[in-house]
Amino acid sequence: MSEEMMRAAAFDVHGGPEVLRVMELPAPQAGPGQVRVRVRTAGVQPFDAAVRAGWTPPNVTGELPRIPGNEFAGVVDQVGEGVTGVAVGADVLGFSLLNSCAEYVVVPAGDVTPKPAELPWEVAGGLTAGVQTAELAIDGLGVGDGDTLLVHAAAGSVGTAAVQIARRRGATVIGTAREENHPYLRDLGAVPVAYGDGLADRVRALAPGGVDAALDGAGGHALEVSLELVKDRARILTLVEHGKAAELGIKVTQGVRTAERLGRYAALYASGAFAFPVRRTYRLEEAAEAHREIETRHGRGKVVIVVSAG
Ligand SMILES: NC(=O)c1ccc[n+]([C@@H]2O[C@H](COP(=O)([O-])OP(=O)(O)OC[C@H]3O[C@@H](n4cnc5c(N)ncnc54)[C@H](OP(=O)(O)O)[C@@H]3O)[C@@H](O)[C@H]2O)c1
Repeated sequence: MSEEMMRAAAFDVHGGPEVLRVMELPAPQAGPGQVRVRVRTAGVQPFDAAVRAGWTPPNVTGELPRIPGNEFAGVVDQVGEGVTGVAVGADVLGFSLLNSCAEYVVVPAGDVTPKPAELPWEVAGGLTAGVQTAELAIDGLGVGDGDTLLVHAAAGSVGTAAVQIARRRGATVIGTAREENHPYLRDLGAVPVAYGDGLADRVRALAPGGVDAALDGAGGHALEVSLELVKDRARILTLVEHGKAAELGIKVTQGVRTAERLGRYAALYASGAFAFPVRRTYRLEEAAEAHREIETRHGRGKVVIVVSAG
């Protein structure tokens, strides 16, 4: 029997966005405990661009060709032996370690959650990384009622989620972004501030009582400012400068992504209580363009690839 094939945005050599192209690759098959999802949409992260450029994440082999993408939404089309609670034909969203930017992705059945009808496909495919990372970070920082939290890169996909999660927990949030994203941050519930030279003084002026915690989604100067403003290093968490965390005594995200958490935010979005705008969608053939967009490191909301129209 001939092997089943699928279309995927993949690369067989590391390099710039141009190495990413649509390839015909073997379609994965659901094994015991797994489901296969026919992907409709897949989110794009800075992580994907780094892997494409040659970075090998922990727990990943260097095999090529490689399909990027850690988040997806689609329709279950195979369930493996022993899977209960997920049926063929179910609309789901979920997460993987790479491999999502393809017509089919196979994951453990526990890594998907039902997609509410009110959650648009484009939003669903890109929801995972932002909300999971943000909630793990906010938990790690112990943000709660009465805290003042500084979120660097607040307009990005993680920042968008982090601002809203911290606000829901009763914190005051100061978010850094370019001027053009300030109205957006205000709508999310943050006090906006421009990043760059003089940031520490601008934040002091906005928070006369001090900053209790900082979430660094930008690195470099953002981390320096966090160290300057937050007294307790255990209340600084970086998403970017992992290599410096131990030496500085600051945190990185810990814990795992869960379908339960993803399901909660999918439901919140569906109820209108959580915003998660899509910056732009691209077709599978335009995956390189989507990576170029992510690599600008600017913009608000989520970049999503529409793999199939269903
Ligand atoms: N450790 C983890 O578990 C984990 C998970 C997910 C993401 N991350 C990392 O977290 C970072 C953010 O990810 P993301 O998905 O939210 O990225 P994203 O959606 O691409 O957003 C990037 C944001 O960075 C802002 N920005 C650019 N330069 C900045 C600066 N100098 N100071 C402050 N903000 C700046 C941009 O805002 P403007 O348009 O206003 O410039 C943009 O909104 C990335 O480095 C990513 O690799 C880590």
